[in-house]
Amino acid sequence: MTKRRVYLGTNTKMYKSIAQTCSFLKELSELTAGLSREHLELFVIPSYTALEAARKAAPPSIIKLGAQNMAWLDEGPLTGEISPLMLREVGVEIVEIGHSERRHIFREDLETIRKKVLCAARHGFTVLLCVGETTEEKEAGCMDDALRIQLKSALHGLSPEYLSRLWVAYEPVWAIGENGTPASREYAEARHKALRETLCQLFGQGAAEVVPLLYGGSVNSENAVGLIGMDHIDGLFIGRSAWDARRFSAIIRDVLDSVYR
Ligand code: 13P
Repeated sequence: MTKRRVYLGTNTKMYKSIAQTCSFLKELSELTAGLSREHLELFVIPSYTALEAARKAAPPSIIKLGAQNMAWLDEGPLTGEISPLMLREVGVEIVEIGHSERRHIFREDLETIRKKVLCAARHGFTVLLCVGETTEEKEAGCMDDALRIQLKSALHGLSPEYLSRLWVAYEPVWAIGENGTPASREYAEARHKALRETLCQLFGQGAAEVVPLLYGGSVNSENAVGLIGMDHIDGLFIGRSAWDARRFSAIIRDVLDSVYR
């Protein structure tokens, strides 16, 4: 099954200063300038403080820009949060919601994530919703149940008109970061299939098929091509292995060559 498009992006988490983000973006733009965007959606999600400068460092036609989180209100007494209006002001296009680090370290619950998803969608952002099971859920064999709950809860009340701007990242908690082990491509494919089936249940087959499903969690230059070769994996959401522009652009080229050769 040939993919219409491949989604490749990185979340730089709480790494990279404004200057480091801009030089990363400039290098990445240059290294990928020759690659047609017809089949490639390339995105970077830096820290809030770098967003404004980042927008100037790389045009949206080359690299889409995202925020790592967003509040569910336009304004209000929410110390430490960031408003959709503030993100609009700096030219953000994507809002990431429900990353495992938000769910587990900052205790964001299902209802908070749902409110954020609905608000981001209403504001016209592309919503990058992250879901993933814990080690315990995997060991108990209820990983697909956990994913269904996270997905159904986050999308409850979402009008189908917003589906064309919804991306879902499957990021198993046990696969993320220094101590993570990447999911095998077969395991990731099975979870993506469960997510696709859940989307079909919620919105119908045609509508659900437009939603790209990305895999994240210790993606690297060794496993990227294998993962993208799976039918239900439309993209890769990469942390550490993408933070060096040369290394990231080598992964991008390998992935595109493998899919569209
Ligand atoms: P790593 O690729 O470093 O495991 O991080 C994945 C991630 O959290 C992307 O959001």
